Amino acid sequence: MKEIRLAARPVGWPTAETFEIAEAPVPEPGPGQVLIRNVYISVDPYMRGRMNDVKSYMPPFKIGEPLDGGAVGEVVASNAESVPVGAYVVHALGWREFAVVDAARARVVDPAAAPTLSAYLGLLGMTGLTAYVGLLDIAQFREGDTVFVSGAAGAVGSVVGQIARLRGAKRVIGSAGSAEKVRHLTADLGFDAAFDYKQAPVREQLKAAAPDGVDVYFDNVGGDHLEAAISTMNKYGRIAMCGAIAQYNDVTAPSAPRNLASTIGKEINLRGFLVGNHSHRMPEFIAEVGGWLREGRLTARETVVDGLENAPEAFLGLLRGENTGKMVVKVG
Ligand SMILES: NC(=O)c1ccc[n+]([C@@H]2O[C@H](COP(=O)([O-])OP(=O)(O)OC[C@H]3O[C@@H](n4cnc5c(N)ncnc54)[C@H](OP(=O)(O)O)[C@@H]3O)[C@@H](O)[C@H]2O)c1
Repeated sequence: MKEIRLAARPVGWPTAETFEIAEAPVPEPGPGQVLIRNVYISVDPYMRGRMNDVKSYMPPFKIGEPLDGGAVGEVVASNAESVPVGAYVVHALGWREFAVVDAARARVVDPAAAPTLSAYLGLLGMTGLTAYVGLLDIAQFREGDTVFVSGAAGAVGSVVGQIARLRGAKRVIGSAGSAEKVRHLTADLGFDAAFDYKQAPVREQLKAAAPDGVDVYFDNVGGDHLEAAISTMNKYGRIAMCGAIAQYNDVTAPSAPRNLASTIGKEINLRGFLVGNHSHRMPEFIAEVGGWLREGRLTARETVVDGLENAPEAFLGLLRGENTGKMVVKVG
């Protein structure tokens, strides 16, 4: 079977040489384990951090070993009654064609309850939950808030904006990196305003889009976006620190935000979070977001790349902004 390994640690932007496509034997499940044929694998920005040899909230990938990450697949052999052959499961050993996992670490999902199986990696999975928890629990969103989300056409951002709209935001504003993404936000996802951050300074464009200021900022980007949000925030504003993709490939320390001290006078609550520590919110999230999806009130665009051998290119494309909505690779 094919698997994708880390060939070398990138300095700055990763390249095709960061990855190796290798052959490995199909593993045998032991007692209490299942063998899964991966159908879709998740492609996520946090993987860039794991390519560095630094201590973080997740261990670094090892050179010469397969990468891992979220995946959904079909159980093809089982030594566990709770997860029979034919079940579809979400688990954490992506980036390979077949995976053996302990049954306790495989979450059974119903393919009929989702528009596509890949939705369990995006809208109904980790990135959807990130949007839900970040907006509602971390940023303490309230009806009538004006919400700004960066990376708004991506997997997390597109769900943040739609939840804010459905929960009664006064105004939802998004930033993204192309004219087509900006159009998608306002025409397809119901954002009230959107702008292309590559066309003019974020601070200028955000001030024009939010004449009454911003109450909640959902930060996927960091840097100039965070600085612009702080300067546009209203008193008692709330910021969910979700990601800082603008700096994941940087080799020097970021130069923004330069205005962090103004969070004091505005009494802004700025809080980071890791979705992995909020899985207890999964049932409410699935009930509410799954309900909106069934009613057709919420849209989930995906960017699907075909073939495990193209997963490295999909990852590089994600960092370059080539995805709209969740980036996944269809394994087979
Ligand atoms: N805290 C958590 O538990 C958690 C969980 C999941 C994800 N995250 C974070 O959430 C963020 C979004 O993740 P995702 O999975 O939804 O990815 P995504 O937004 O679907 O994909 C990444 C997007 O980032 C944008 N981007 C790349 N470089 C940029 C730059 N320099 N400035 C502004 N935008 C840039 C690109 O869109 P454009 O075309 O718009 O540039 C790209 O499409 C990431 O920062 C990720 O690390 C955090």
